[in-house]
Amino acid sequence: MAATDLERISNAEPEPRSLSLGGHVGFDSLPDQLVSKSVSQGFSFNILCVGETGIGKSTLMNTLFNTTFETEEASHHEECVRLRPQTYDLQESNVHLKLTIVDAVGFGDQINKDDSYRPIVDYIDAQFENYLQEELKIRRSLFDYHDTRIHVCLYFITPTGHSLKSLDLVTMKKLDSKVNIIPIIAKADTISKSELHKFKIKIMGELVSNGVQIYQFPTDDEAVAEINAVMNAHLPFAVVGSTEEVKVGNKLVRARQYPWGVVQVENENHCDFVKLREMLIRVNMEDLREQTHSRHYELYRRCKLEEMGFQDSDGDSQPFSLQETYEAKRKEFLSELQRKEEEMRQMFVNKVKETELELKEKERELHEKFEHLKRIHQEEKRKVEEKRRELEEETNAFNCRKAAMEALQSQAFHATSQQPLRKDKDKKKAGGWSSIYSVTIP
Ligand code: GTP
Ligand code: MG
Repeated sequence: MAATDLERISNAEPEPRSLSLGGHVGFDSLPDQLVSKSVSQGFSFNILCVGETGIGKSTLMNTLFNTTFETEEASHHEECVRLRPQTYDLQESNVHLKLTIVDAVGFGDQINKDDSYRPIVDYIDAQFENYLQEELKIRRSLFDYHDTRIHVCLYFITPTGHSLKSLDLVTMKKLDSKVNIIPIIAKADTISKSELHKFKIKIMGELVSNGVQIYQFPTDDEAVAEINAVMNAHLPFAVVGSTEEVKVGNKLVRARQYPWGVVQVENENHCDFVKLREMLIRVNMEDLREQTHSRHYELYRRCKLEEMGFQDSDGDSQPFSLQETYEAKRKEFLSELQRKEEEMRQMFVNKVKETELELKEKERELHEKFEHLKRIHQEEKRKVEEKRRELEEETNAFNCRKAAMEALQSQAFHATSQQPLRKDKDKKKAGGWSSIYSVTIP
């Protein structure tokens, strides 16, 4: 026998043997223990309402849970879709339900609706991520963790009677692998019976042809298989919401009153509200929670862990240990870090070199400028020197002329004082000298 066959035999788990008990032991109380533990722990259920502004989301929630949740009307001017979660503590008998209603505020109101689905997808993913982070903690407290993962998305379809809008198809397609979608036709009292029938068929046809997977009520549990199968055929539910009470016969019922008659919310001939409440709350709430965990969250978790480099087995189908994965990731991370460090160092060196070159260039330019200015300065200096020399020469010439003039004047003075008789003639001459004097001395 080959070694691998032997290994397989020794690793095989032994078949459990059936034994009968001699008397009552008590583990048949396990389901009761489970129920009482769950009841004392309480439940959480999270509903996401997606539909255009004013389609009747809040009214339907109030009608479904027979209460009035605090809600504000959304405006039609939101820049983008915004998710608004609100959590309430509800109690029925001794069962506590932590209910979160998340409204996709502003859905369908933007001119460009290309990315309308994105905030919704991001919100759903963020709740999965929070749960995953809690699971990965060393000290995790999943027992009292407030699970905010979306268990169901009620997708409100506008009762146009035509067909689904592309926005509806794109959004549902983006959400179908992340959440259980239950499509509902809102304000079903605004569409006639025959139109509604055709509209339902059209919607289902479009969902199928576009590969949109909506939530199917489970048919594997015998107790509910029949009713769920029937209800699956009624999808999408056409609902009417109202918290107003109207007297019909001698009973007060929730209804919408019109001049021509009364639409009763809980009358199955008028709309599918009762079917929705039955399926969503009374029969399949636990399945919706369970599907969220085992299908949608599991898919998110698997993709996320694979993205992080974890896998169950290596290429040869050998189990992959967490330690090995961690070590491999650590090595990968360290070498990446080293590479980045080297890259940054190189960048720094290049930058320094560049700056050095720039500085050198600036220095050269400055030097050239200095030389140029120096030359200009020397030229100016030479010119000034020239001018000074010329001026000096002019001053000397002037001084010489001045001295000559003074000498002539004194000679003339002496001559006048020695020859008084020739006064008249000399007077004429003196006049002549003074005229010379006034012309030559500036
Ligand atoms: P936002 O939160 O502002 O986006 O609105 P919403 O989707 O919560 O709608 P809301 O429940 O506030 O209802 C808007 C209007 O539609 C109100 O006047 C409701 O009375 C009316 N309405 C709600 N449900 C129905 C319905 O089933 N049929 C009809 N005809 N009108 C409805
Ligand atoms: Mg509302």
